[in-house]
Amino acid sequence: MIALEFTTFLGRFHPLFVHLPIGFLFLAIVLEWYESFRKTEVKSKLIPIAWLLGAVSATGAAVTGWFLGETGLYEEEYLFSHRWLGVALVVVAFVGWYIKSKPKAFPVKLQHGFNILLLAMLFIEGHKGGNLTHGETYLTEYAPAPIQKLIGGTGNKDVLPEFGTPDSVQVYADLVAPIFDAKCIGCHNAEIKRGGLNMSHPDSLRMGGESENVIAAGNTEGSELFKRITLPPKNIKFMPPTNNALTYDEIKTVEWWIEQGAPFEGSLASLKVTENIKPILLRRYGIDTNPKPWYETVQLQKLDSMQLSSLVQTGFEVKTLGPDNSLLDIKYSGSDLTKEKLSELENVKEYITWLSLANSNVSDELLSSVSQFTNLTRLELEKTAISDKGVAHLSELEHLEALNLYGTKVTDACLPYIEKISSLKRVYLWQTGVSPQTAKSTQENNERLKIVIGKG
Ligand code: HEC
Repeated sequence: MIALEFTTFLGRFHPLFVHLPIGFLFLAIVLEWYESFRKTEVKSKLIPIAWLLGAVSATGAAVTGWFLGETGLYEEEYLFSHRWLGVALVVVAFVGWYIKSKPKAFPVKLQHGFNILLLAMLFIEGHKGGNLTHGETYLTEYAPAPIQKLIGGTGNKDVLPEFGTPDSVQVYADLVAPIFDAKCIGCHNAEIKRGGLNMSHPDSLRMGGESENVIAAGNTEGSELFKRITLPPKNIKFMPPTNNALTYDEIKTVEWWIEQGAPFEGSLASLKVTENIKPILLRRYGIDTNPKPWYETVQLQKLDSMQLSSLVQTGFEVKTLGPDNSLLDIKYSGSDLTKEKLSELENVKEYITWLSLANSNVSDELLSSVSQFTNLTRLELEKTAISDKGVAHLSELEHLEALNLYGTKVTDACLPYIEKISSLKRVYLWQTGVSPQTAKSTQENNERLKIVIGKG
């Protein structure tokens, strides 16, 4: 460990060293060009000296660089070419020194060719080194758009696939693994297992690395992986060590996945979508996890205007929910509702999603036809003569979410019927025969249902 620490110490001198060969070799080449431009008879002794200094300092840069690479903090894939090009540069610099110290012995073309070769190597090597520490897009990130286009960058790195419904999204494969693939796999794969950790497959990730709990299901604080990505970036243990930290959304996604037990299988619909992950799923992946109201999911042919106008003539107020939604919002508040009039509604029964018969003369018996309105989500019966018998007709409705019985004749006996409507979310029972105690105990037995009864 001590030995490793010492070489790491040496490695840290690499950024300091690398500028020396660039300076010396560049100077040597400029000097030589200047002299050939001036057509000097005798070449300056300074040229081979500068090449020698360049070669020696390049050796220093290569040795320190080699140690720095050994720390494992750089991605092998990019490190390889930088490393060996660096070694080649040292060789070329020494050969150059030899050639330049015998200017007469080698043809001028070779002398100049060597200069060009070395300049090209210096340029490529420097660029590769910069990419290793700053990331590949560092140089062009702020380039003007035409230049970006020329280089082939899109300028927008963060394009993510758009997903469909929550049950079509695999949490690990679609949301979590892509983050690891983009930012961790370079150093944690089957060949290069830094820290003993291979993140390329669920099975190998499950096995962990040198520490016991790389991922502790349900426990972010006990998960080494989560600790590593949330350390202060300057910390030596921060992951990834490259300039490629996880974004806020990515950290939150990983956090939520671990909190949910870090499952490797299962769709979004099978996990609890907490309030803090919802906006991220929507913003980052375009996944809307809020359940859609029933009336937005129903697909029906448009009704023709004849049918609608005949309803209006019968005395109903008729609206469609919107230009693209042909479901109907229907009102009737007169005191001359009859079975015949209601049978008009039966012709469009699957279109009716909101129905208000408040303040009308609707009776328990008339209500029986409402039981066929399969897409009904909201029913207003307030201030009518409806009693428990009428409510019994409603238990068949599968999508009814809101029921208003305020000011009707219903009593405690209607509650069992109400409980049967499994889709029901709110029922208004203010000023009825229902007692607050019974309402309260019914409420306690039905978590999803909200009974609004006022002070009683
Ligand atoms: C450039 C290389 C590199 C990248 C990229 C990288 N790591 Fe590492 N990782 C290492 C090295 C080297 C170690 C071993 C030294 C140490 O423990 O800090 C390590 C160790 C770890 C460990 C500790 C394993 C154990 O069992 O002790 C975890 C966890 C980890 N990395 C997670 C990640 C995550 C998550 C990412 C992506 C966000 C990531 N790493 C990206 C190089 C890398």
